[in-house]
Amino acid sequence: MGQLVYLDNAATTQLHPDVWKEMTPYFTEFYGNPSSIYRFAQTSSQAVENAREEIAAMIGAKPSEIYFTGGGSESDNWALKIIAETYRSKGNHIITSSIEHHAVLHTCQYLEKQGFDVTYLSVNEQGIIDLDQLKQSIRPDTILISIMAANNEIGTIQPIAGIGQIAKEFGVFFHTDAVQAFGHIPLNAEEMNIDLMSASAHKIHGPKGVGFLYVRTSVKLPPLIHGGAQERGKRAGTQSGRSLWELWYCWICCSGKTCSRSHERDDRIRERTAGLSDRKD
Ligand SMILES: Cc1ncc(COP(=O)(O)O)c(C=O)c1O
Repeated sequence: MGQLVYLDNAATTQLHPDVWKEMTPYFTEFYGNPSSIYRFAQTSSQAVENAREEIAAMIGAKPSEIYFTGGGSESDNWALKIIAETYRSKGNHIITSSIEHHAVLHTCQYLEKQGFDVTYLSVNEQGIIDLDQLKQSIRPDTILISIMAANNEIGTIQPIAGIGQIAKEFGVFFHTDAVQAFGHIPLNAEEMNIDLMSASAHKIHGPKGVGFLYVRTSVKLPPLIHGGAQERGKRAGTQSGRSLWELWYCWICCSGKTCSRSHERDDRIRERTAGLSDRKD
């Protein structure tokens, strides 16, 4: 059999060897429970919190706005259900696009069964939504716009800043599924008026089953999993493996070196993606 040429990096990526090397000590040496109070466990809890800080800095958020999850699907489900269930008294209309990942589309279908009304925006031949159509679809009872940052099949990058601007203007929450965008294109929650953002590590050479949901402080967030105090009481469960985030983060953004200045990170991301978003062919 010939050598395998793997071309399906949108489905998942190979774990980067540097990530593997860096994460191994957290399985074998620093295996303490990050929630334990003794010194031995502090190495792993520090790694979790370092990862939270780095990720927050990367997307222009506060560390307290980052919730580690079990991947992109969980983050998408949580985001949509948070807004739908918590803000139902304000309205029951949600806007999304027809080309979202199933993690969003099937959650919308579930919410429709719960009585929510969902508008599925169409896209043009490049797979881009129309901002005027978005504006026209907003109603007094609209509570959420959920539009993905980059599409998993065709790579289309949506005008996230423009969507965020409209959402802000109309006082509607904006969630973006950034699973295919995080680590590839600069994303800044503050500048782009993003209220919730989902991401997943295995799309950018990190481990599977690890993700995060960014939730702006002003959004009311009910717990997803009840139990321990992890993730500030919102998602209980021992944070095993969460420290791994730091490692793939370092590789993807900083070529193996930790850097916490956002302009350096953005420059590196731009170098890696130069020419991708303005290709005409
Ligand atoms: C755009 C998008 N959203 C969500 C997901 C789900 O992410 P995960 O596999 O981490 O659950 C994927 C994965 O294919 C995706 O491409």
